Amino acid sequence: MTVAAPRVSPSILTPQNVDEHLLQLLESKGRDTDFWSSKDRDRNDSAHSIFQYPAMMVPVVQRRLLGAILEARPDIQSVYDPFLGSGTSLVSGMHYGLNVYGNDINPLAVLISRVRTARSVDFTVGVIAEQVAETAAKDSRATIETSMVNRGKWFQEDVSLELSRLRRAIRQCDNLWVRRFLWVTLAETVRLTSNDRTSTYKLHARSAFDIAKRALSPIAVFRELARKNAASFSEFRRRLNEAKQLTSGRYVAETEVRIGDTRKTQEYWSDAAPFDLLMTSPPYGDNLTTVTYGQHSYLPLHWIDFKDIDPSADEATLRTTQEIDRRSLGGIASDDVWTEEKLFEASPRLKRFADDLPAKPADGRTRLIRFYKDFGTSLDSILDVMKPDSYMIWTVGNRNIAGKQVPTDLVLSELLEGLTCKVITTLTRRIHHKRMPDRNASSATMREEKILLIRKVRA
Ligand SMILES: C[S@@+](CC[C@H](N)C(=O)[O-])C[C@H]1O[C@@H](n2cnc3c(N)ncnc32)[C@H](O)[C@@H]1O
Repeated sequence: MTVAAPRVSPSILTPQNVDEHLLQLLESKGRDTDFWSSKDRDRNDSAHSIFQYPAMMVPVVQRRLLGAILEARPDIQSVYDPFLGSGTSLVSGMHYGLNVYGNDINPLAVLISRVRTARSVDFTVGVIAEQVAETAAKDSRATIETSMVNRGKWFQEDVSLELSRLRRAIRQCDNLWVRRFLWVTLAETVRLTSNDRTSTYKLHARSAFDIAKRALSPIAVFRELARKNAASFSEFRRRLNEAKQLTSGRYVAETEVRIGDTRKTQEYWSDAAPFDLLMTSPPYGDNLTTVTYGQHSYLPLHWIDFKDIDPSADEATLRTTQEIDRRSLGGIASDDVWTEEKLFEASPRLKRFADDLPAKPADGRTRLIRFYKDFGTSLDSILDVMKPDSYMIWTVGNRNIAGKQVPTDLVLSELLEGLTCKVITTLTRRIHHKRMPDRNASSATMREEKILLIRKVRA
Protein backbone atom coordinates (compact mmCIF):
# COMPACT_ATOMS: atom_id res chain seq x y z
CA MET A 1 0.00 0.00 0.00
CA THR A 2 1.40 3.43 -0.89
CA VAL A 3 0.60 6.24 1.47
CA ALA A 4 0.72 9.83 0.28
CA ALA A 5 3.02 12.09 2.27
CA PRO A 6 1.33 15.02 4.00
CA ARG A 7 1.60 18.37 2.31
CA VAL A 8 3.34 20.22 5.07
CA SER A 9 6.02 22.54 3.95
CA PRO A 10 7.36 24.53 6.84
CA SER A 11 7.65 28.14 5.79
CA ILE A 12 10.00 29.04 8.60
CA LEU A 13 12.41 26.23 9.28
CA THR A 14 12.60 26.12 13.05
CA PRO A 15 13.71 22.84 14.63
CA GLN A 16 10.21 22.55 16.13
CA ASN A 17 8.37 22.70 12.84
CA VAL A 18 10.82 20.28 11.23
CA ASP A 19 10.02 17.93 14.15
CA GLU A 20 6.35 18.42 13.40
CA HIS A 21 6.80 17.79 9.69
CA LEU A 22 8.83 14.67 10.38
CA LEU A 23 6.29 13.36 12.83
CA GLN A 24 3.52 13.75 10.28
CA LEU A 25 5.60 12.06 7.61
CA LEU A 26 6.38 9.09 9.85
CA GLU A 27 2.80 8.80 10.99
CA SER A 28 1.48 8.86 7.44
CA LYS A 29 3.93 6.18 6.32
CA GLY A 30 3.29 4.12 9.44
CA ARG A 31 -0.41 3.90 8.57
CA ASP A 32 0.68 1.13 6.25
CA THR A 33 1.10 -1.45 9.02
CA ASP A 34 3.88 -3.24 7.19
CA PHE A 35 5.98 -0.19 6.44
CA TRP A 36 8.44 -0.46 9.34
CA SER A 37 7.94 -4.18 9.84
CA SER A 38 8.55 -5.08 6.22
CA LYS A 39 8.31 -8.78 5.48
CA ASP A 40 10.03 -8.46 2.12
CA ARG A 41 13.42 -9.06 3.60
CA ASP A 42 15.83 -9.50 0.75
CA ARG A 43 18.83 -11.34 2.14
CA ASN A 44 21.03 -9.99 -0.62
CA ASP A 45 19.98 -6.37 -0.20
CA SER A 46 23.17 -4.27 -0.07
CA ALA A 47 25.36 -7.37 0.38
CA HIS A 48 23.58 -8.02 3.68
CA SER A 49 24.30 -11.71 4.01
CA ILE A 50 28.03 -11.92 3.39
CA PHE A 51 28.37 -12.81 7.07
CA GLN A 52 25.70 -13.75 9.59
CA TYR A 53 26.41 -11.06 12.21
CA PRO A 54 24.28 -11.00 15.40
CA ALA A 55 21.25 -8.68 15.59
CA MET A 56 21.54 -7.12 12.15
CA MET A 57 19.10 -4.38 11.20
CA VAL A 58 17.01 -4.72 8.06
CA PRO A 59 18.38 -2.59 5.18
CA VAL A 60 15.00 -1.76 3.60
CA VAL A 61 13.64 -0.46 6.93
CA GLN A 62 16.71 1.70 7.56
CA ARG A 63 16.45 3.08 4.03
CA ARG A 64 12.80 3.98 4.57
CA LEU A 65 13.64 5.76 7.79
CA LEU A 66 16.45 7.62 6.10
CA GLY A 67 14.18 8.54 3.19
CA ALA A 68 11.65 10.08 5.58
CA ILE A 69 14.29 12.04 7.50
CA LEU A 70 15.87 13.33 4.30
CA GLU A 71 12.50 14.48 3.06
CA ALA A 72 12.14 16.67 6.12
CA ARG A 73 15.83 17.61 6.33
CA PRO A 74 17.32 17.60 2.81
CA ASP A 75 20.41 19.42 4.14
CA ILE A 76 21.66 16.23 5.87
CA GLN A 77 24.94 15.08 4.35
CA SER A 78 26.41 12.63 6.81
CA VAL A 79 25.26 9.64 8.82
CA TYR A 80 27.13 8.14 11.76
CA ASP A 81 26.78 4.73 13.44
CA PRO A 82 28.68 4.34 16.74
CA PHE A 83 27.74 0.63 17.06
CA LEU A 84 28.34 -0.34 13.50
CA GLY A 85 28.05 -4.14 13.49
CA SER A 86 27.85 -5.35 9.90
CA GLY A 87 27.39 -1.80 8.60
CA THR A 88 23.66 -1.76 7.74
CA SER A 89 23.23 1.96 8.55
CA LEU A 90 26.17 2.90 6.39
CA VAL A 91 25.15 0.93 3.31
CA SER A 92 21.64 2.38 3.71
CA GLY A 93 23.16 5.87 3.69
CA MET A 94 25.08 5.02 0.52
CA HIS A 95 21.80 4.59 -1.37
CA TYR A 96 21.24 8.34 -0.74
CA GLY A 97 24.80 9.42 -1.53
CA LEU A 98 25.55 10.43 2.07
CA ASN A 99 28.96 10.59 3.70
CA VAL A 100 28.89 7.56 5.98
CA TYR A 101 30.92 7.04 9.16
CA GLY A 102 30.97 4.30 11.73
CA ASN A 103 33.00 2.53 14.35
CA ASP A 104 32.86 -0.71 16.29
CA ILE A 105 34.99 -2.31 18.96
CA ASN A 106 34.85 -5.72 17.27
CA PRO A 107 37.50 -6.18 14.54
CA LEU A 108 35.22 -8.54 12.59
CA ALA A 109 32.46 -5.91 12.43
CA VAL A 110 35.01 -3.41 11.09
CA LEU A 111 36.18 -5.87 8.44
CA ILE A 112 32.65 -6.67 7.21
CA SER A 113 31.70 -2.99 7.14
CA ARG A 114 34.88 -2.01 5.30
CA VAL A 115 34.09 -4.57 2.63
CA ARG A 116 30.50 -3.40 2.23
CA THR A 117 31.19 0.33 2.24
CA ALA A 118 34.27 0.42 0.00
CA ARG A 119 34.16 3.35 -2.42
CA SER A 120 35.66 1.20 -5.18
CA VAL A 121 35.37 -2.53 -5.58
CA ASP A 122 36.93 -5.04 -7.95
CA PHE A 123 34.28 -6.69 -10.12
CA THR A 124 36.56 -9.59 -10.94
CA VAL A 125 36.40 -10.69 -7.30
CA GLY A 126 34.22 -13.69 -8.19
CA VAL A 127 36.81 -14.92 -10.69
CA ILE A 128 39.63 -14.30 -8.20
CA ALA A 129 37.74 -16.26 -5.54
CA GLU A 130 37.45 -19.22 -7.94
CA GLN A 131 41.21 -19.04 -8.48
CA VAL A 132 41.80 -18.89 -4.73
CA ALA A 133 39.68 -22.01 -4.28
CA GLU A 134 41.64 -23.72 -7.12
CA THR A 135 44.99 -22.78 -5.58
CA ALA A 136 43.82 -24.05 -2.18
CA ALA A 137 42.59 -27.32 -3.70
CA LYS A 138 46.00 -27.91 -5.33
CA ASP A 139 47.96 -27.07 -2.20
CA SER A 140 49.15 -30.26 -0.51
CA ARG A 141 51.05 -28.67 2.38
CA ALA A 142 50.08 -29.79 5.87
CA THR A 143 51.11 -26.64 7.73
CA ILE A 144 48.32 -25.26 9.93
CA GLU A 145 47.93 -21.49 9.55
CA THR A 146 46.54 -20.57 12.94
CA SER A 147 48.10 -20.51 16.36
CA MET A 148 44.76 -21.04 18.10
CA VAL A 149 45.48 -22.92 21.33
CA ASN A 150 42.27 -24.91 21.60
CA ARG A 151 41.98 -25.58 17.85
CA GLY A 152 41.27 -29.32 18.25
CA LYS A 153 38.09 -28.55 20.17
CA TRP A 154 36.64 -26.32 17.47
CA PHE A 155 37.90 -27.78 14.18
CA GLN A 156 38.27 -31.24 12.73
CA GLU A 157 41.79 -31.84 11.42
CA ASP A 158 40.69 -32.01 7.75
CA VAL A 159 38.78 -28.78 8.19
CA SER A 160 41.85 -27.05 9.69
CA LEU A 161 43.95 -28.26 6.75
CA GLU A 162 41.60 -26.81 4.14
CA LEU A 163 41.11 -23.55 6.03
CA SER A 164 44.92 -23.22 6.16
CA ARG A 165 45.15 -23.75 2.42
CA LEU A 166 42.52 -21.11 1.81
CA ARG A 167 44.30 -18.72 4.14
CA ARG A 168 47.59 -19.19 2.28
CA ALA A 169 45.87 -18.67 -1.09
CA ILE A 170 44.10 -15.48 0.08
CA ARG A 171 47.42 -14.02 1.26
CA GLN A 172 48.71 -14.23 -2.31
CA CYS A 173 46.13 -11.70 -3.63
CA ASP A 174 47.53 -8.19 -4.17
CA ASN A 175 44.45 -6.03 -3.77
CA LEU A 176 43.47 -5.16 -0.18
CA TRP A 177 39.72 -4.88 -0.83
CA VAL A 178 39.76 -8.23 -2.61
CA ARG A 179 41.59 -9.83 0.32
CA ARG A 180 39.07 -8.29 2.75
CA PHE A 181 36.17 -9.65 0.70
CA LEU A 182 37.83 -13.08 0.73
CA TRP A 183 38.51 -12.87 4.50
CA VAL A 184 34.81 -12.19 5.13
CA THR A 185 33.91 -15.13 2.91
CA LEU A 186 36.41 -17.24 4.84
CA ALA A 187 34.88 -16.00 8.12
CA GLU A 188 31.46 -17.31 7.08
CA THR A 189 33.12 -20.55 5.91
CA VAL A 190 34.68 -20.93 9.36
CA ARG A 191 31.33 -20.33 11.01
CA LEU A 192 29.70 -23.06 8.95
CA THR A 193 32.49 -25.65 9.16
CA SER A 194 33.65 -25.37 12.78
CA ASN A 195 32.42 -27.67 15.53
CA ASP A 196 30.32 -24.87 17.01
CA ARG A 197 26.55 -25.31 17.07
CA THR A 198 25.27 -22.41 15.00
CA SER A 199 21.96 -22.20 16.89
CA THR A 200 23.22 -19.65 19.44
CA TYR A 201 25.72 -16.81 19.36
CA LYS A 202 27.58 -18.24 22.33
CA LEU A 203 30.19 -20.83 21.48
CA HIS A 204 28.91 -24.28 22.23
CA ALA A 205 30.65 -27.35 20.78
CA ARG A 206 28.65 -30.09 19.09
CA SER A 207 28.71 -33.57 20.59
CA ALA A 208 31.51 -35.95 19.52
CA PHE A 209 28.85 -38.10 17.83
CA ASP A 210 27.53 -35.15 15.84
CA ILE A 211 31.04 -34.03 14.85
CA ALA A 212 32.00 -37.50 13.62
CA LYS A 213 28.94 -37.58 11.33
CA ARG A 214 29.84 -34.35 9.52
CA ALA A 215 31.79 -34.55 6.26
CA LEU A 216 32.89 -31.01 5.47
CA SER A 217 34.95 -29.35 2.79
CA PRO A 218 35.70 -25.71 3.66
CA ILE A 219 37.06 -25.18 0.12
CA ALA A 220 33.72 -26.24 -1.40
CA VAL A 221 31.78 -24.10 1.12
CA PHE A 222 34.06 -21.12 0.44
CA ARG A 223 33.61 -21.47 -3.32
CA GLU A 224 29.83 -21.52 -3.02
CA LEU A 225 29.73 -18.58 -0.60
CA ALA A 226 32.13 -16.56 -2.75
CA ARG A 227 29.83 -16.99 -5.74
CA LYS A 228 26.83 -15.76 -3.75
CA ASN A 229 28.77 -12.90 -2.17
CA ALA A 230 30.19 -11.72 -5.49
CA ALA A 231 26.71 -11.81 -7.04
CA SER A 232 25.14 -9.88 -4.17
CA PHE A 233 27.93 -7.31 -4.41
CA SER A 234 27.45 -6.67 -8.08
CA GLU A 235 23.71 -6.28 -7.47
CA PHE A 236 24.41 -3.75 -4.66
CA ARG A 237 26.76 -1.76 -6.87
CA ARG A 238 24.30 -1.94 -9.78
CA ARG A 239 21.66 -0.38 -7.56
CA LEU A 240 24.04 2.34 -6.39
CA ASN A 241 24.86 3.07 -10.02
CA GLU A 242 21.18 3.19 -10.94
CA ALA A 243 20.63 5.68 -8.09
CA LYS A 244 23.49 7.77 -9.56
CA GLN A 245 25.65 7.29 -6.49
CA LEU A 246 28.67 6.07 -8.45
CA THR A 247 30.96 8.07 -10.74
CA SER A 248 33.10 5.85 -12.96
CA GLY A 249 32.31 3.01 -10.59
CA ARG A 250 33.41 4.95 -7.49
CA TYR A 251 31.00 5.91 -4.71
CA VAL A 252 30.33 9.65 -4.84
CA ALA A 253 30.76 10.53 -1.16
CA GLU A 254 33.01 9.59 1.75
CA THR A 255 32.90 6.28 3.60
CA GLU A 256 34.95 5.83 6.74
CA VAL A 257 34.93 2.85 9.09
CA ARG A 258 37.13 2.87 12.19
CA ILE A 259 37.93 0.44 14.92
CA GLY A 260 37.17 2.07 18.24
CA ASP A 261 35.33 2.21 21.53
CA THR A 262 32.27 4.46 21.48
CA ARG A 263 33.01 5.58 25.03
CA LYS A 264 35.94 7.51 23.51
CA THR A 265 34.68 8.77 20.14
CA GLN A 266 36.27 12.20 20.62
CA GLU A 267 39.70 10.54 20.45
CA TYR A 268 39.33 9.37 16.89
CA TRP A 269 36.50 11.25 15.14
CA SER A 270 37.60 14.86 15.63
CA ASP A 271 38.70 15.10 11.98
CA ALA A 272 35.29 14.07 10.55
CA ALA A 273 32.79 15.20 13.24
CA PRO A 274 30.33 16.77 13.86
CA PHE A 275 27.86 14.50 12.10
CA ASP A 276 24.41 15.42 10.74
CA LEU A 277 22.46 12.26 11.60
CA LEU A 278 22.92 9.24 13.85
CA MET A 279 21.48 5.87 12.91
CA THR A 280 22.29 2.90 15.11
CA SER A 281 21.25 -0.12 17.11
CA PRO A 282 23.24 -0.40 20.33
CA PRO A 283 24.13 -3.68 22.04
CA TYR A 284 21.27 -5.24 24.03
CA GLY A 285 23.28 -5.21 27.23
CA ASP A 286 23.77 -8.93 27.39
CA ASN A 287 26.87 -9.30 25.25
CA LEU A 288 28.51 -11.44 27.93
CA THR A 289 25.62 -13.86 28.18
CA THR A 290 23.28 -14.06 25.18
CA VAL A 291 23.96 -11.85 22.17
CA THR A 292 27.72 -12.36 22.31
CA TYR A 293 29.06 -10.39 19.34
CA GLY A 294 32.64 -11.12 20.35
CA GLN A 295 32.27 -14.83 21.01
CA HIS A 296 30.48 -15.19 17.70
CA SER A 297 33.52 -13.62 16.00
CA TYR A 298 36.17 -15.53 17.94
CA LEU A 299 36.58 -18.58 15.66
CA PRO A 300 36.51 -16.66 12.33
CA LEU A 301 38.98 -14.05 13.58
CA HIS A 302 41.55 -16.79 14.28
CA TRP A 303 41.84 -17.42 10.54
CA ILE A 304 42.07 -13.80 9.35
CA ASP A 305 45.18 -11.60 8.99
CA PHE A 306 44.59 -8.78 11.46
CA LYS A 307 46.87 -6.41 9.58
CA ASP A 308 44.37 -6.54 6.68
CA ILE A 309 41.57 -5.39 8.98
CA ASP A 310 43.37 -2.37 10.43
CA PRO A 311 46.91 -1.63 11.64
CA SER A 312 45.48 -0.99 15.11
CA ALA A 313 43.39 -4.19 15.26
CA ASP A 314 44.59 -5.90 18.42
CA GLU A 315 45.19 -9.65 18.30
CA ALA A 316 45.06 -9.74 22.08
CA THR A 317 41.27 -9.58 21.62
CA LEU A 318 41.59 -13.31 20.87
CA ARG A 319 43.22 -14.04 24.25
CA THR A 320 40.01 -15.73 25.41
CA THR A 321 36.61 -16.41 23.86
CA GLN A 322 35.21 -13.58 26.04
CA GLU A 323 37.80 -10.86 25.52
CA ILE A 324 35.96 -8.81 22.86
CA ASP A 325 32.74 -8.93 24.88
CA ARG A 326 34.68 -7.98 28.02
CA ARG A 327 35.99 -4.90 26.22
CA SER A 328 32.50 -4.02 24.95
CA LEU A 329 29.77 -2.08 26.78
CA GLY A 330 28.94 -3.67 30.11
CA GLY A 331 31.97 -5.95 29.96
CA ILE A 332 34.33 -4.85 32.68
CA ALA A 333 33.92 -2.05 35.16
CA SER A 334 35.21 1.17 33.60
CA ASP A 335 35.74 4.57 35.17
CA ASP A 336 32.68 5.69 37.04
CA VAL A 337 31.68 8.95 35.32
CA TRP A 338 28.16 7.62 35.49
CA THR A 339 27.66 6.52 39.08
CA GLU A 340 24.64 4.47 40.07
CA GLU A 341 23.22 7.57 41.74
CA LYS A 342 23.57 9.66 38.58
CA LEU A 343 22.04 6.89 36.47
CA PHE A 344 19.01 6.49 38.70
CA GLU A 345 18.49 10.21 38.92
CA ALA A 346 18.50 10.42 35.12
CA SER A 347 16.28 7.37 34.66
CA PRO A 348 13.67 6.64 37.36
CA ARG A 349 12.45 3.76 35.11
CA LEU A 350 15.81 2.08 35.39
CA LYS A 351 15.83 2.53 39.16
CA ARG A 352 12.37 1.02 39.46
CA PHE A 353 13.34 -1.90 37.28
CA ALA A 354 16.59 -2.53 39.21
CA ASP A 355 14.81 -2.28 42.57
CA ASP A 356 12.16 -4.79 41.47
CA LEU A 357 14.64 -7.39 40.24
CA PRO A 358 14.49 -10.69 42.12
CA ALA A 359 17.52 -11.72 44.16
CA LYS A 360 18.43 -14.38 41.61
CA PRO A 361 20.46 -14.40 39.47
CA ALA A 362 22.64 -12.65 42.03
CA ASP A 363 24.64 -10.75 39.44
CA GLY A 364 21.61 -9.65 37.35
CA ARG A 365 21.44 -6.21 38.94
CA THR A 366 25.21 -5.71 38.84
CA ARG A 367 25.35 -6.53 35.14
CA LEU A 368 22.42 -4.25 34.37
CA ILE A 369 23.98 -1.28 36.15
CA ARG A 370 27.43 -1.94 34.72
CA PHE A 371 25.96 -1.90 31.22
CA TYR A 372 24.04 1.33 31.74
CA LYS A 373 27.04 3.09 33.28
CA ASP A 374 28.98 2.32 30.11
CA PHE A 375 25.97 3.28 28.02
CA GLY A 376 25.77 6.66 29.81
CA THR A 377 29.44 7.30 29.03
CA SER A 378 28.79 6.36 25.39
CA LEU A 379 25.86 8.79 25.18
CA ASP A 380 28.03 11.67 26.42
CA SER A 381 30.64 10.80 23.90
CA ILE A 382 28.17 10.34 21.01
CA LEU A 383 26.47 13.68 21.68
CA ASP A 384 29.87 15.35 21.52
CA VAL A 385 30.31 14.32 17.88
CA MET A 386 26.76 15.22 16.75
CA LYS A 387 25.68 18.62 15.43
CA PRO A 388 23.18 20.70 17.41
CA ASP A 389 19.64 19.89 16.27
CA SER A 390 20.80 16.71 14.58
CA TYR A 391 18.41 13.77 14.55
CA MET A 392 19.17 10.35 15.95
CA ILE A 393 17.43 7.10 15.03
CA TRP A 394 17.93 4.42 17.67
CA THR A 395 16.66 0.88 17.10
CA VAL A 396 16.49 -1.00 20.40
CA GLY A 397 15.40 -4.42 21.55
CA ASN A 398 14.04 -5.01 25.03
CA ARG A 399 16.02 -7.83 26.59
CA ASN A 400 15.07 -9.93 29.60
CA ILE A 401 16.70 -10.26 32.99
CA ALA A 402 15.31 -12.94 35.32
CA GLY A 403 12.26 -13.23 33.08
CA LYS A 404 11.55 -9.50 33.31
CA GLN A 405 11.70 -7.21 30.32
CA VAL A 406 14.10 -4.29 30.61
CA PRO A 407 12.27 -1.23 29.25
CA THR A 408 15.29 -0.26 27.10
CA ASP A 409 13.38 2.22 24.94
CA LEU A 410 12.01 4.09 27.96
CA VAL A 411 15.35 4.11 29.75
CA LEU A 412 17.11 5.39 26.63
CA SER A 413 14.47 8.13 26.26
CA GLU A 414 14.94 9.24 29.86
CA LEU A 415 18.72 9.21 29.64
CA LEU A 416 18.75 11.26 26.44
CA GLU A 417 16.12 13.69 27.70
CA GLY A 418 18.38 14.26 30.71
CA LEU A 419 21.11 15.15 28.24
CA THR A 420 18.86 17.86 26.74
CA CYS A 421 17.61 15.80 23.83
CA LYS A 422 14.00 15.69 22.67
CA VAL A 423 12.15 12.46 21.95
CA ILE A 424 10.10 13.11 18.80
CA THR A 425 8.41 9.73 18.52
CA THR A 426 8.81 6.00 19.12
CA LEU A 427 7.81 3.54 16.39
CA THR A 428 7.23 -0.16 16.92
CA ARG A 429 8.65 -2.65 14.47
CA ARG A 430 7.43 -6.21 14.51
CA ILE A 431 10.21 -8.73 13.85
CA HIS A 432 9.40 -11.42 11.33
CA HIS A 433 12.69 -13.16 10.80
CA LYS A 434 15.27 -11.76 13.13
CA ARG A 435 17.53 -14.58 14.18
CA MET A 436 17.64 -14.46 17.92
CA PRO A 437 19.04 -16.92 20.43
CA ASP A 438 16.49 -19.56 21.42
CA ARG A 439 16.07 -18.27 24.91
CA ASN A 440 14.80 -14.90 23.74
CA ALA A 441 12.94 -16.08 20.68
CA SER A 442 10.49 -17.99 22.84
CA SER A 443 9.56 -14.90 24.80
CA ALA A 444 7.58 -11.98 23.45
CA THR A 445 10.43 -9.57 24.03
CA MET A 446 12.29 -10.01 20.79
CA ARG A 447 9.21 -10.16 18.61
CA GLU A 448 9.29 -6.42 18.31
CA GLU A 449 11.75 -3.63 18.59
CA LYS A 450 11.38 0.07 19.08
CA ILE A 451 12.68 2.78 16.82
CA LEU A 452 13.25 6.05 18.65
CA LEU A 453 13.51 9.32 16.81
CA ILE A 454 15.36 11.87 18.90
CA ARG A 455 16.73 15.36 18.35
CA LYS A 456 19.83 16.63 20.05
CA VAL A 457 18.81 20.01 21.38
CA ARG A 458 21.88 21.10 23.24
CA ALA A 459 24.67 23.00 21.48
C1 LIG B 1 23.27 -4.53 17.82
S1 LIG B 1 24.93 -4.63 17.22
C2 LIG B 1 24.87 -3.64 15.78
C3 LIG B 1 24.31 -4.41 14.61
C4 LIG B 1 24.18 -3.53 13.37
N1 LIG B 1 23.14 -2.53 13.54
C5 LIG B 1 23.90 -4.36 12.12
O1 LIG B 1 22.91 -4.13 11.43
O2 LIG B 1 24.71 -5.25 11.85
C6 LIG B 1 25.81 -3.70 18.39
C7 LIG B 1 27.31 -3.53 18.11
O3 LIG B 1 27.89 -2.74 19.16
C8 LIG B 1 29.25 -3.12 19.26
N2 LIG B 1 29.81 -2.59 20.52
C9 LIG B 1 29.63 -3.03 21.79
N3 LIG B 1 30.31 -2.26 22.66
C10 LIG B 1 30.93 -1.30 21.91
C11 LIG B 1 31.76 -0.20 22.24
N4 LIG B 1 32.11 0.07 23.51
N5 LIG B 1 32.20 0.60 21.24
C12 LIG B 1 31.85 0.34 19.93
N6 LIG B 1 31.08 -0.70 19.57
C13 LIG B 1 30.62 -1.51 20.54
C14 LIG B 1 29.21 -4.63 19.13
O4 LIG B 1 30.48 -5.14 18.76
C15 LIG B 1 28.14 -4.81 18.05
O5 LIG B 1 28.73 -4.93 16.79
